[in-house]
Amino acid sequence: MDGIEFFATTSAGIEDLASSEVEMLLKVKCVPDVGKVFFKSSPESIYILNLCASTLNKVMICLCRTYFENLNQIYYLVKQVDFSKYILPDQSFAVESERYGVHDFTSVDVSRVVGQAIIDSYLSSKGVRLKVNLNSPDIIFFSLVRDKEYILGLNTTGESLHKRGYRVYEHPAALKPTIASAMLMLAGWDCSMPLIDPMCGGATIPIEAAFKARRIPPNYLRKNFAFHKIGFLNLQDFENLRGKLLSTANRNVYKIFGMEKYERHLRGAIMNCSNAGVSDTVFLKLGDATCPEMYPCESFNTIIVNPPYGVRMVPEGGMKRFYKLFLKALRERFSGSTLVLITAAFRRFLQAVDEVDVKVLGERNVLHGRLSAKIFKCKI
Ligand SMILES: C[S@@+](CC[C@H](N)C(=O)[O-])C[C@H]1O[C@@H](n2cnc3c(N)ncnc32)[C@H](O)[C@@H]1O
Repeated sequence: MDGIEFFATTSAGIEDLASSEVEMLLKVKCVPDVGKVFFKSSPESIYILNLCASTLNKVMICLCRTYFENLNQIYYLVKQVDFSKYILPDQSFAVESERYGVHDFTSVDVSRVVGQAIIDSYLSSKGVRLKVNLNSPDIIFFSLVRDKEYILGLNTTGESLHKRGYRVYEHPAALKPTIASAMLMLAGWDCSMPLIDPMCGGATIPIEAAFKARRIPPNYLRKNFAFHKIGFLNLQDFENLRGKLLSTANRNVYKIFGMEKYERHLRGAIMNCSNAGVSDTVFLKLGDATCPEMYPCESFNTIIVNPPYGVRMVPEGGMKRFYKLFLKALRERFSGSTLVLITAAFRRFLQAVDEVDVKVLGERNVLHGRLSAKIFKCKI
């Protein structure tokens, strides 16, 4: 089964970076789209991406991508797909639908119609009536209606890859590891140079940096992947690849630092780093990022940070003052360095930038959960 059509989902705003990552990992051409990327590759890509991609959420085999007029047409389009390759007669399935645009039907209607089309298609090709199981299906189909476009995917990942499996401490304002990884790419960080996240919370950014530097597949701790139940895949190939990749990870010590003001988060960061297997290359300390003298003595040329946005708690004097004190501390200690920062309080951040001599080199919108945030790249 060569040359399968795929798409992979990602966070809106980092599609170009996800696309570059797929191209780098698979050596194929990849086309970014809204919240996803499309590409054609071999079945082995399922293992490579699920283990190694740091910016993707879910990897899907693309079963259908077309335009439609009405719900009835979606039924006939899906019924034409040959599902016998992907699902065994005794396996159950579920359809998860998303819908964007104005339609005279809901996403629940789409799931119902697509589910029926899958059952009818299988019945005519294999003579077996497949079972639907919405709670614990063997096979998960992802169904997307976007205006007049319809896309059907077979989910090879299961739960999103941003759930890496290393978080034993769940910080209340944790950053998605996929976005942390995209920020590392944006910074253009050369792993040999010292890097700091001065407000590290549960250490997502330092852990992702350590994975990158050591060439540790970022999803190596994940136990469950949906592809385990997809019939035509050979799980021994996956285990062989996993073993090979883990054996080529290096044990070098890199200068990756995290600083955090509150002890409870720092304790959580220590536990997360230990669980991720990178305690010996991530150095964590207690400290206030607005105080220049509290930073480690290293000379950092890359600063990557996910500071508070002022959603849960507003620092004394307001967000603008907080960002200004932070930028001033960076200027005093690390003038000339690159800062990549994500915030949903972007107006306050830009006001602070205006008042401190920091240059914004670029910015982009990114959806962090339900929050509209911006990632800024600045010269300190
Ligand atoms: C948005 S959270 C970071 C979450 C982190 N990226 C993660 O994924 O777990 C911001 C963190 O900054 C810390 N913080 C707030 N003010 C600080 C300061 N002045 N110095 C250092 N850390 C600070 C907070 O305690 C919080 O843990």
